[in-house]
Amino acid sequence: MTERVIPLLDHRTRSRAPAAAEEAPSGRLSDTRNRSVRDLRISITDRCNFRCTYCMPRTVFGRDYPFLARSDLLDFEEILRIARVFAAHGVRKIRLTGGEPLLRRDIERLISMLAGIGGVELALTTNGSLLAKKARALRDAGLDRITVSLDSLDDDVFRAMNDADYPVAHVLEGIEAAQAAGLVPVKVNAVIKRSVNRDAIVPIARHFRGTGAIPRFIEYMDVGSTNGWRMDEVVPSAEVLALIDAELPIEPVGSDYPGEVAQRWRYRDGGGELGVVSSVTRAFCATCTRARLSTDGKLYTCLFASEGHDLRALIRGGASDATLSAEIAGIWRSRGDHYSEIRSAQAGTGGRVEMSYIGG
Ligand code: GTP
Ligand code: 5AD
Ligand code: SF4
Ligand code: SF4
Repeated sequence: MTERVIPLLDHRTRSRAPAAAEEAPSGRLSDTRNRSVRDLRISITDRCNFRCTYCMPRTVFGRDYPFLARSDLLDFEEILRIARVFAAHGVRKIRLTGGEPLLRRDIERLISMLAGIGGVELALTTNGSLLAKKARALRDAGLDRITVSLDSLDDDVFRAMNDADYPVAHVLEGIEAAQAAGLVPVKVNAVIKRSVNRDAIVPIARHFRGTGAIPRFIEYMDVGSTNGWRMDEVVPSAEVLALIDAELPIEPVGSDYPGEVAQRWRYRDGGGELGVVSSVTRAFCATCTRARLSTDGKLYTCLFASEGHDLRALIRGGASDATLSAEIAGIWRSRGDHYSEIRSAQAGTGGRVEMSYIGG
């Protein structure tokens, strides 16, 4: 299959005559497991106004937590440069994440800059608290799609999950505003913890049935080292699907694209779609085409990686796009990550894989 390659010029030579432009190496990259890079997830702030227990527990991310200083953050021009290089290497989807990305000042300007790359779908994952106000401006700036996290429809359970004081109604308003603005299909992510929000599964499915929004039920993961993860808090996707099927009959749908994170299902009566993300019980590393860029410009080739590659140092040290491109290509070609598969393989034998084993 031939890939369409977006031409890439060095940013410092772009305004000169084309003949003087330095052409950067580009084209499809393949890692050691024959996976290409298709998705780039960019974290644009490490801050969040929620404190979800599975992500930023307040005991760790408290008042004194040393969040990054403004000068540590990649600025919009730096983000754009890196995104263009990835697009030249085959990235077709960019997702802005965080922390809470809508807390980043002037995010609309960044979106319009990234939309200018062309040929790349632009999506964003948000907790929805500021979405009702921002949905229209995000769409006008060039955002294509949005995913909203929502772990319960009950205010008390919602608070037990996110340890913040926001009514569910605000998030629902945000979802409706996003749909009205055309940021569709809106996907709604619910992380399920057995002891807290297992009872939220069927009400969430019921609520979004027939609305065009697609709920996705996510297995609670052992990401990071602070969330006190335990296997018995994970609700396997098979259990989620059985709970829903008992009340609202469903059937599987083929995946949208190879390497899709969620397995897709639909209501048998035509009421729409839902999904499950099973990274604990059914790892999808074999088709993982995702690269992650941290707020301070480190490139991670796996959600569970313990070390990133410092692209910010490279950029601030004056590297050309050609150098940046070659560096990224080298990093991707040597990528061998498959953490969730290793964890799954160990699950039956009782123990979780140790960090020292995976190179922590
Ligand atoms: P779309 O298909 O564009 O909607 O994107 P997506 O399916 O990647 O959706 P999203 O980014 O919302 O990911 C859903 C959830 O899946 C995330 O919030 C994570 O919990 C989990 N997830 C996403 N990517 C990975 C990954 O590479 N590895 C693992 N283990 N989990 C992931
Ligand atoms: N397990 C599963 N998903 C998680 N997320 C964050 N932490 C975890 C975890 N421990 C995901 C949620 C949320 C998105 C921002 O990150 O899906 O919607
Ligand atoms: Fe993490 Fe998102 Fe929750 Fe914020 S809203 S704490 S970024 S999962
Ligand atoms: Fe990709 Fe790592 Fe997640 Fe596996 S564990 S799917 S390699 S990010």
